[in-house]
Amino acid sequence: MQYAQDLLKTLYTMAMLVEARDAYTGGHLWRVSRFSYLLAEDLDLPKAEVEKIALGGFLHDLGKVGVPDAILNKPDKLSDAEYEVIKTHPQIGAELLRDHPLAELVMDAVLKHHETPDGKGYPQGLQGEQIPLVARIVGLTDAFDAMTSTRPYRQGMSLEQALAIVQDHLGSQFDRVLGERFIKLGQAGHLNNIISHSEPGIPLQHCAACGPIIVIPRAVADGAELFCPGCASAYRLSRQGGRLALSPVGYTNPAKARRPRADAGLISDLLHEFGQELLVSRKPSLLGRLFG
Ligand SMILES: [Fe+2]
Repeated sequence: MQYAQDLLKTLYTMAMLVEARDAYTGGHLWRVSRFSYLLAEDLDLPKAEVEKIALGGFLHDLGKVGVPDAILNKPDKLSDAEYEVIKTHPQIGAELLRDHPLAELVMDAVLKHHETPDGKGYPQGLQGEQIPLVARIVGLTDAFDAMTSTRPYRQGMSLEQALAIVQDHLGSQFDRVLGERFIKLGQAGHLNNIISHSEPGIPLQHCAACGPIIVIPRAVADGAELFCPGCASAYRLSRQGGRLALSPVGYTNPAKARRPRADAGLISDLLHEFGQELLVSRKPSLLGRLFG
């Protein structure tokens, strides 16, 4: 069992490599994973299936490690040729994973999260229920997080605006049944502690110029300096009675601002939360294979 857990840890660590490449989207993987977990739980799926969907949410963009920085981090609209490069990331992810002993747990999420019910997605142009459930869930929650996240060059949408867009694209870009349930979760307030957060209870903090895009790693001490990943401005963290606040220090440091976080604490928590049933339920198929 310990060996299987260690393997699962390698998957989470691989996913973190993607976030290290793209500092602007701090917390995206955690949020997609958490939204996906909520939606899967709402469908009353078995616990092991819910955990598998949460894991798929965390891993879905693995293949983006193979997309060049100039395209991955480009703030302007992509050219057709650049978009073709972006569209290779599901297959790159699938190839990177193929021989990993736990690949079967996340392959559908990685390879098929950009398929859409109308058949206009990629890479295969699958339609409707040809698209595995995990990929339909992650496709929806990934798009929702992109809509509600602020980037240095644009403000994130409100919950209501993003849910209205989901509503408008039911049956075409988003699975109708899943989309309707997700809208209900949003209207009931269940998404509020995930939107604009990077971990449970840790909201993204505001840069005066770029908006709420600064991730606060949980291990950072009171008084530490943090940097906006957009404009590289320095801020000093204060933890006043558990509440986080940043005050500007008055200089910029692009090298420190670009430095990715390596959040070992988050990975341990995810393993604890999303790893137990998942691995146990794979006995004897998975564990039997691992232990021969
Ligand atoms: Fe993707």
